[in-house]
Amino acid sequence: MSTVTLTTTAPASVKADAIVVGVYSVDDGVTFAPGPKDVSAVTKNLPATLKPLGVSGKVGDVTKLPSTGKVKAPVVVLAGMGPAGGDNDVDLESLRRAAGAAARSLAGCASVAFALPSSSAEQVRAVAEGALLGGYAYDRYLAKKHEPIGEYVVISDTARSRGTQDAVRHAEAVAAAVNFARDLVNMPPNDLYPETFAEAVQARSKSTKVTISVTDDKTLAAKGYGGILGVGKGSNRPPRLVKLGYSPRRAVAHLALVGKGITFDSGGLSIKTGNGMMTMKCDMAGAAAVCAATFAIADLGLPIRVSAYACLAENMPSGHASRPGDVLTMYGGKTVEILNTDAEGRLVLADGITTASEEKPDLIVDVATLTGACVVALGHHTSGVFTNDDDLHVEIPRAAERAGEQMWAMPIPEEMKEKVRTTKIADLSQHNPEPYGGASFAAAFLREFVGDGLRWAHLDIAGPAFNDSSPSGYTPKGGTGAAVRTLVQLAVDRAGRDR
Ligand code: BES
Ligand code: MN
Ligand code: ZN
Repeated sequence: MSTVTLTTTAPASVKADAIVVGVYSVDDGVTFAPGPKDVSAVTKNLPATLKPLGVSGKVGDVTKLPSTGKVKAPVVVLAGMGPAGGDNDVDLESLRRAAGAAARSLAGCASVAFALPSSSAEQVRAVAEGALLGGYAYDRYLAKKHEPIGEYVVISDTARSRGTQDAVRHAEAVAAAVNFARDLVNMPPNDLYPETFAEAVQARSKSTKVTISVTDDKTLAAKGYGGILGVGKGSNRPPRLVKLGYSPRRAVAHLALVGKGITFDSGGLSIKTGNGMMTMKCDMAGAAAVCAATFAIADLGLPIRVSAYACLAENMPSGHASRPGDVLTMYGGKTVEILNTDAEGRLVLADGITTASEEKPDLIVDVATLTGACVVALGHHTSGVFTNDDDLHVEIPRAAERAGEQMWAMPIPEEMKEKVRTTKIADLSQHNPEPYGGASFAAAFLREFVGDGLRWAHLDIAGPAFNDSSPSGYTPKGGTGAAVRTLVQLAVDRAGRDR
């Protein structure tokens, strides 16, 4: 991955292929955002009015101009940051998006300098994170490779402070994790299946403090993993359960993460339409997120023990596939009647949640592209947060917001407890008897597998996990790495750190 360097050099004197400055939108046009000392030398000779150039100052808006006067960088990039706040009141998400959109438009530059607002470590972190995320591209299957930005130079008057330097290291670890999750999601499902997902995680763990153990289909069968096996048995690609462990000395909390890892969701015998399965390589985004977050938490050396489980299977129709009407005996012994083989995520997660519960962690968080119903409710930019703990209902959306993600508290209404018991022939029904409240029903089903007295939250990322429309800000087309930053933020919070 490309590097971020910090400097206190005056913006006009920084050697780079392009220099990025911020612009705010105001009533009658735009105004320059604050930046490092002497940033005005970069902008002072630009045209007095930028209106004819179409510069709007909207977040994500990017305009490139030849530099003028004694500016070393030949190109000035104006990055829109939205309406102005107060001087020290720069919206961090606008900053991330501005840096990201600029980076996205500057592929192939050997070096890009950022002279955006950077008066605090948090602002510098936002610039670095946005830039590294925006600079991402997936080119594994292209003959003509994407040319990444070689060096990101962040100009800040605080560049010499330890806090600012730590902030940049933090941004690098988080962005590397998000981009790792994006790579996994983007990888085509003919090449990424349970076995190769496990291999990718194993490869990533080399020279980290994360241990990996992979349970194969034979051992899963011997141990009674009916959920994961029931979903995976229609496929020629056998399922896997991958456990990642990070156990720092002096851990102050134990976090368990469980991710839905359906490497392709055809729906199984309850088959999806052609259009409906178009983006279903993204159905392992939850597993990718929990693995990526574990690596970031370990890279940052946070004093949080993490046990993460990637529940991996491919959901395919075949003569071996599970049928509507089948009864599965899940890991731990509960029985479940399958009513719709397309509601497969909850089955693999149930086995993962039961397994995670055995260690009695302080908190279990599962992450899943679980329901279309959650996309209907919250759209493509907001994940649903379901939990058995009132504090988490507040804590998780807040952590998400600080991390630059949107999550919203969703209910598990009381009546769902009965609805998951509608069946007469097994302990639990897998599928909602009515077409309403599908995301809450799924959460109520998962809750049945959480060990007694344990705190649990379920993040339904079906909307944000995959961007099927145009890129924007630091978000590329395809896999987005949704939930990675929020999971890391939760670990940072639990460690009592600022960062
Ligand atoms: N993987 C899908 C959910 C999904 C939908 C993820 C759209 C990302 C974007 C899940 O396995 C699924 O098929 N859910 C069904 C559940 C239903 C059969 C109860 C759905 O949402 O239609
Ligand atoms: Mn499905
Ligand atoms: Zn699915």
